[in-house]
Amino acid sequence: MTGQPKRLFPGGILIPLLAAAMFALSGGAALAQLTDQDVAEIPAGPQPIKFSHKIHATDIQIPCEYCHIYARRSLVSGVPPVQICMGCHQLVGTQLAEVQKLKEYWDKKEPIPWVKIHDVPDFVRYPHFRHVRARNEIFPNGVPCQTCHGPIETMHVVEKFNPDFGLMGWCMECHLTIPGAQERKAATPAGPGSTSLKNAMSPIGHHRPNLTDCLTCHK
Ligand code: HEC
Ligand code: HEC
Ligand code: HEC
Ligand code: HEC
Ligand code: HEC
Repeated sequence: MTGQPKRLFPGGILIPLLAAAMFALSGGAALAQLTDQDVAEIPAGPQPIKFSHKIHATDIQIPCEYCHIYARRSLVSGVPPVQICMGCHQLVGTQLAEVQKLKEYWDKKEPIPWVKIHDVPDFVRYPHFRHVRARNEIFPNGVPCQTCHGPIETMHVVEKFNPDFGLMGWCMECHLTIPGAQERKAATPAGPGSTSLKNAMSPIGHHRPNLTDCLTCHK
């Protein structure tokens, strides 16, 4: 993160991520901060707290996986646990009503009831981490988040970028571009026992199922 150019806040404030903690420790007096007025100008979405990806991922430059810690490890990506937010917000943004809401959840030890935007039906097998960690000719370093979710870092309110997101044709369209994916043997992980996490989590490279076989995605 060091050496990143400083980014402007919508409120006209310069503050790199690494300075955030020092900024708070110094009482925040030396630098201007976002105000409730600035936050009021952010469009409202369905979420219980007005959390902006544009502010966090672009202006403050926090990497996606700093918050989405399970995206490359787990069957589901998941939204960040409150402790990750509080790592910063014990100290920064405490003047904001929206951040005070966050602290209320933390004090009550309640998870934040975020509304889920991207969803595939439960009868479909979608191992999130296999995609983020894919290694093949088309995606040598995993499929980038933006390929499926669009430019989240520009969104104040998360939306489905592609209207076909999550439909069978959408999955297939990509799977068909992967060389050899149709010629491989049928799915081992989707056979008996495929729903077990142990099976699904076995090392990358061992599972190279046929990516168009019905049983790869349907148990
Ligand atoms: C190949 C497409 C693809 C890629 C690449 C991808 N996602 Fe997803 N993501 C999905 C799908 C499909 C769902 C819905 C999963 C479900 O409902 O089980 C999803 C769901 C999510 C969710 C909602 C919570 C959940 O797990 O259901 C978050 C957060 C998320 N993705 C973040 C990320 C991040 C961060 C990255 C990059 C590190 C990323 N995704 C990369 C397809 C993708
Ligand atoms: C790495 C540090 C960091 C983390 C982690 C972080 N934030 Fe922030 N957040 C900031 C900073 C810095 C600001 C700007 C504070 C200011 O201007 O006083 C901010 C501003 C905000 C705001 C007001 C602007 C907006 O987005 O509407 C909200 C609400 C907020 N954060 C919620 C959250 C939530 C919820 C989480 C956890 C999912 C989180 N933050 C995680 C650093 C962080
Ligand atoms: C500071 C923490 C933080 C960072 C950094 C962050 N996110 Fe998120 N993300 C959240 C929170 C909190 C939510 C749930 C609220 C919402 O939808 O805005 C979320 C929701 C999402 C969702 C929608 C989940 C659903 O319900 O379908 C996707 C997709 C996503 N993030 C992808 C990304 C990507 C890609 C990046 C990097 C460009 C990123 N996030 C950076 C905290 C973060
Ligand atoms: C943008 C491209 C892309 C999209 C969209 C996509 N996938 Fe994939 N998928 C991949 C890649 C890449 C792999 C890893 C392929 C390999 O083995 O080389 C993969 C692998 C898989 C696997 C096999 C995992 C294992 O056990 O190894 C399943 C199951 C799967 N995808 C389901 C889905 C479903 C369901 C959807 C739609 C909801 C979907 N995918 C959408 C690119 C995509
Ligand atoms: C790459 C993953 C993938 C593969 C391979 C796949 N499907 Fe699907 N399928 C999905 C997803 C995602 C949905 C749910 C979204 C939708 O309805 O489009 C779905 C939905 C369906 C449904 C609708 C179920 C309902 O109740 O609405 C049927 C039927 C179906 N698939 C049959 C098949 C058959 C037959 C094959 C093999 C020829 C197959 N699928 C291969 C991902 C896949």
